[in-house]
Amino acid sequence: MPWTGNDLPDLNGRTVVITGAGRGLGLITARELARAGARVVLGVRDTGKARCAVAGLPGVFDVRPLDVADLTSVRAFAGSWSGDLDILINNAGVMDVPGTRTADGLDLQTATNYTGPFVLTNLLLEHLTDRVVHVTSQLHRRGAISLDDLDWRTREYNGMSAYQASKLAVVLFSLELQRRLTAEGSPVRSVLASPGIARTSLAAHSRSNIVNRFTFLTNPPERGALSVLYAATQDVPGNSYVGPDGLGGLRGHPAVRRQGDIGLDEDLAARLWTATTDLVGKVAR
Ligand SMILES: NC(=O)c1ccc[n+]([C@@H]2O[C@H](COP(=O)([O-])OP(=O)(O)OC[C@H]3O[C@@H](n4cnc5c(N)ncnc54)[C@H](OP(=O)(O)O)[C@@H]3O)[C@@H](O)[C@H]2O)c1
Repeated sequence: MPWTGNDLPDLNGRTVVITGAGRGLGLITARELARAGARVVLGVRDTGKARCAVAGLPGVFDVRPLDVADLTSVRAFAGSWSGDLDILINNAGVMDVPGTRTADGLDLQTATNYTGPFVLTNLLLEHLTDRVVHVTSQLHRRGAISLDDLDWRTREYNGMSAYQASKLAVVLFSLELQRRLTAEGSPVRSVLASPGIARTSLAAHSRSNIVNRFTFLTNPPERGALSVLYAATQDVPGNSYVGPDGLGGLRGHPAVRRQGDIGLDEDLAARLWTATTDLVGKVAR
């Protein structure tokens, strides 16, 4: 029998943070985790919209302001955290957006998908008891990392290349984070989730949205969210890559799959960590 949300364990007493959960896969994930008993904290840009989205749903929700692309907001969110946090889900993301700079002067797409979650995760790590789930994409396999120019300053910006690179950076972040956690003897796991292709509004503005017309290739959003739910709750090894079990990992039910070879390059992962701390460390506060 394929795994579904009905197979979620009892999550009473567990606290989950999920970013960008006011709509899309994040909202479905938040709804299901709360239905299973978790206290779900939604870190979102538009708190009013998110409160409306969860109003009337069964479970305990706590909506807090968080813009993952703004390091001031990330630090405020993490700094106000007290007590244990069982599961952190870095879900917020944008795809193939025009080149824009954030308030910190960072590339918006890279900041949203990678550097913001990198900082958030590191700041919340002292509270984490179980795992962090990084939502990545099959497109990480096409990604290339430019250690000298993570932030798209010297190269000509390309929206799809920046998306693929940011999702590869997330995969490498998970690898190096898990290595560090294991070295410290920490029980906390770093786990990756890929939704395959799920028909949300993520790519609505992008030429790649054409794929969403081919429903036989894609997952309905409810099924896309299952990879995230599985990665967040099932007993998988550290740095597992959870994704749909169908052809090309694009659709199907969640299973432990394998990330692309480049996502398993330990040397690159270690050097990316250093380059990232250099980059975010340079951001003036
Ligand atoms: N759908 C797919 O086929 C697919 C495939 C692979 C990976 N993914 C990944 O899955 C995740 C969720 O995507 P989705 O399909 O659910 O897309 P979506 O429907 O467009 O939702 C994206 C969510 O991210 C939030 N967000 C964007 N920028 C943010 C920021 N700076 N701070 C906080 N929240 C922010 C959005 O909030 P607002 O409402 O404020 O805009 C929205 O809630 C993303 O990481 C995406 O890359 C999706």
